[in-house]
Amino acid sequence: MSYFARHVFFCCNQREDGALCCNDKGASALRDYAKRRVKELELAGKGGVRVNQAGCLDRCEEGPCIVVYPEQVWYTYIDEQDIDEIIEEHLRHGRVVERLKL
Ligand code: FES
Repeated sequence: MSYFARHVFFCCNQREDGALCCNDKGASALRDYAKRRVKELELAGKGGVRVNQAGCLDRCEEGPCIVVYPEQVWYTYIDEQDIDEIIEEHLRHGRVVERLKL
């Protein structure tokens, strides 16, 4: 059995050369928001959900992106409402949010 039920990786890569990157689209701020909401909703921790920062996940053109394990579902997002929907639907209930899938 996995230590965490679901593990979310947020690409927060920042490129200094002006190339496309997730952090230019608000990744760090929305990772912080996701971490905070997961804690506030008491979904965090062993047997629950873990939100981690990642480096480049190699889907920069499609970003900002996250990937959720163990389902291996990739998402993009724009704002806090998108993150709320991923948390409520996927992380809490295991229902994939089709409209945000990559
Ligand atoms: S910069 Fe985010 S996937 Fe490459």
